[in-house]
Amino acid sequence: MANATSLSGKRILLVIGGGIAAYKVLELIRRLRERGARVRPVMTDAAKQFVTPLSVASLSGDKLYDDLFSLTDEAEMGHIRLSREADLLVVAPATADLLAKMANGLANDLASTLLLATDKRVLAAPAMNVRMWFHPAVQRNLAQLREDGVLFVGPNEGELADGEFGPGRMAEPQEILGAIEDALRSDMAVPLPNQGGSTARLGDAPLAGKAVVVTSGPTHEPIDPVRYLANRSSGKQGHAIAAAAAAAGARVTLVSGPVAIADPAGVVTIHVETARDMLAAVEAALPADVFVAAAAVADWRPARAEHGKIKKGAAGNPTLALVENPDILAKIAQRKKNRPQLVIGFAAETEHVADYARTKLGKKGCDLIVANDVSQATGVMGGDTNTVLLVDRDGIETWPTLDKVEVARRLVARMGPLLHGVQS
Ligand code: C5P
Repeated sequence: MANATSLSGKRILLVIGGGIAAYKVLELIRRLRERGARVRPVMTDAAKQFVTPLSVASLSGDKLYDDLFSLTDEAEMGHIRLSREADLLVVAPATADLLAKMANGLANDLASTLLLATDKRVLAAPAMNVRMWFHPAVQRNLAQLREDGVLFVGPNEGELADGEFGPGRMAEPQEILGAIEDALRSDMAVPLPNQGGSTARLGDAPLAGKAVVVTSGPTHEPIDPVRYLANRSSGKQGHAIAAAAAAAGARVTLVSGPVAIADPAGVVTIHVETARDMLAAVEAALPADVFVAAAAVADWRPARAEHGKIKKGAAGNPTLALVENPDILAKIAQRKKNRPQLVIGFAAETEHVADYARTKLGKKGCDLIVANDVSQATGVMGGDTNTVLLVDRDGIETWPTLDKVEVARRLVARMGPLLHGVQS
């Protein structure tokens, strides 16, 4: 939790992009200063269409930097120095344009030049229209930036300024503040740009160079063109694992069933509907070092999906014949070729959680089972917290009730030592 002096003396170079969310940056500056941070603002030309340079400069208490070729700025401080005399660079709002420049190393204005010249960590708070967010070009840029070590906060899901709904809202100032504190104290640091790139030091990025595949969410098994069998999985836990693995430096492929939450930034997300499609997508994503099966895959599917909508009528009530779906976890864990070194399954149970998990470990052939109680009273399905047991061949470990994001962080923190054969 942030306290009044939690950022005392920290120097934040704040790059403000041109988006409607720029107004929230004024609040961010205020809060950063309340906590003792020094904020040096940089604005793109487009940003000045949304907030005035005067408000930004007054709130930050520093001069506004906005011109790459200003003789006075250059005389007082070159852009290299400007970009390095900071503890952290924060890009907010990180527009599609700024992200594209960052991903491709363009440097045609002061903001992009600073981002290219810096040797410090960069935290970006993306904000854009939902269709832009889902565009493959933006997703490609995000994946590249994640690989380059850029940190992300948001975007959040909700109604956007243009009336559409979905991911694209910039994270709230309070969330960005939390991410700034995390980035400055992070011991799970990602590799820094301009500091060795992909040959990151192991301690900095525990999963650098590793490939992780995660399944998440439910599957939908069609009955006819309008009806399907499904379950209540929200995808929150699986998505959080994918995001945490990416933050730890891994190359992550997330295979997601239909969910209502945003694709994690910097992760390649493949959207599927059925268990069979999910299996195919996972197999296509191999080889990988780690496979995490967090999806709530439907165990059965209708034996046949009708081509036309089943009509009510004289034929009486239809009977649904079911057939078993492939068990993705077991198939991947028991592969002869290209078996990921570490295979982690989940066990959602409503009773005898530990016993069933232990049995499942052997039956599926995985290395670790994360078991949880999903009986209705726990509120785990769709909720934000999870109480899990970790079960491996050596025993059981009980974790306290934690936010799903924290469960993900702790699980990902285990992956490095497990991959290197070290017990943590
Ligand atoms: O057998 P059960 O469904 O309880 O096992 C849960 C674990 O197996 C989860 O990790 C889930 O993702 C995975 N699973 C799977 N394919 C299935 C069923 C479950 O990958 N068809």
